[in-house]
Amino acid sequence: MAAIFRPSANLAAKVVLLGMAALLAGGTGWWLVWPRTDWSRRVGWVIDQPVPFSHEHHVAGLGIDCRFCHTSVEVSSNAGMPPTYTCMTCHSQIWTNAELLAPVRESLAQGRPIAWNVVNDIPQYVYFNHSIHIAKGVGCASCHGSVDRMALTYKASSFTMQFCLNCHRDPGPNLRPKEAIYDTEWHRTADTPSPAALMQQYGVPNRDLTDCSICHR
Ligand code: HEC
Ligand code: HEC
Ligand code: HEC
Ligand code: HEC
Ligand code: HEC
Repeated sequence: MAAIFRPSANLAAKVVLLGMAALLAGGTGWWLVWPRTDWSRRVGWVIDQPVPFSHEHHVAGLGIDCRFCHTSVEVSSNAGMPPTYTCMTCHSQIWTNAELLAPVRESLAQGRPIAWNVVNDIPQYVYFNHSIHIAKGVGCASCHGSVDRMALTYKASSFTMQFCLNCHRDPGPNLRPKEAIYDTEWHRTADTPSPAALMQQYGVPNRDLTDCSICHR
């Protein structure tokens, strides 16, 4: 048979085919992995805000409780954002003319809420509820990190499905005593009740919390 291709073409074809296979595998891997990385999800990236509000000053410095501003976190799916008059309970007296606070005064004068930029979000098709987590002994810091040390707020967790499931598979070790829920610096010590004791105290039922319908309804 007449040789249409030189023998060396065989090798070239193999190299090209192998290269294409590698690219495809790499591309698929990238497509699967990249969207779930902390980097692509902006974990740890400070979000600019219309007013440079500092949790560090207000929570760690002044000792204000989370619930003073995020008033619905115990009773609703949303934690809620503070209305401008909450800021004004203090800032009508302190720092009244500060340039930094101009958008706060404007918001009050015009009766328009401050347009805070969203830091944490999950897709619409995922059902999430703050109140059940608070009621069952999950602390803010388990999902939001050391908020009291944030000069500007950033996302502390990736909120991938894996992140939620890691806890739902075995919540016990992540539960805390009631008085530690809003304390973002709390850590388990020798005196902390055991995971099993906390599970029982909060009445977390012995059921499969990884069932799809819990989060996808
Ligand atoms: C004095 C009021 C105040 C207090 C107290 C306060 N916050 Fe906030 N919080 C805000 C404001 C204003 C924002 C919006 C600006 C920002 O993101 O920094 C915010 C934003 C947040 C966000 C990000 C919201 C988003 O867009 O996803 C989280 C999470 C949060 N707070 C958690 C906490 C926790 C936990 C505590 C208690 C340890 C707390 N906050 C105490 C006022 C407060
Ligand atoms: C309980 C009183 C109180 C409340 C409520 C309060 N602040 Fe403050 N805020 C202060 C004090 C006191 C300071 C000065 C802190 C310092 O210099 O250490 C301050 C400082 C600030 C500053 C200057 C930058 C900084 O952090 O030092 C900004 C901006 C600010 N507050 C925004 C807000 C906003 C927005 C709200 C409402 C979501 C709010 N504050 C609610 C007491 C309060
Ligand atoms: C089990 C994880 C988890 C815990 C615990 C948790 N959060 Fe959240 N938080 C989230 C998620 C997820 C979002 C984004 C929700 C969305 O996109 O609908 C969020 C959003 C927020 C927001 C902004 C939007 C809103 O709901 O109003 C604030 C403020 C907030 N959380 C405060 C808190 C505070 C304060 C606590 C503790 C009392 C807390 N969170 C505990 C997971 C958690
Ligand atoms: C640190 C632990 C922890 C993390 C992280 C966590 N959860 Fe939970 N979640 C719990 C516990 C504990 C319960 C309470 C279970 C019970 O008592 O029924 C719960 C309950 C729920 C419920 C209510 C179940 C029902 O049927 O009443 C939903 C929905 C839920 N979680 C969604 C999520 C989502 C979505 C995420 C991720 C964004 C998440 N959770 C992250 C611990 C966690
Ligand atoms: C504890 C809450 C929780 C449970 C239980 C859960 N999911 Fe999810 N799921 C999530 C969250 C949060 C996301 C969004 C992840 C993201 O933003 O990437 C998600 C995303 C998804 C997606 C979109 C693709 C992806 O991976 O991002 C699919 C498909 C999915 N879930 C299927 C399932 C199936 C099937 C089950 C049951 C075996 C299940 N989920 C159980 C929380 C949950």
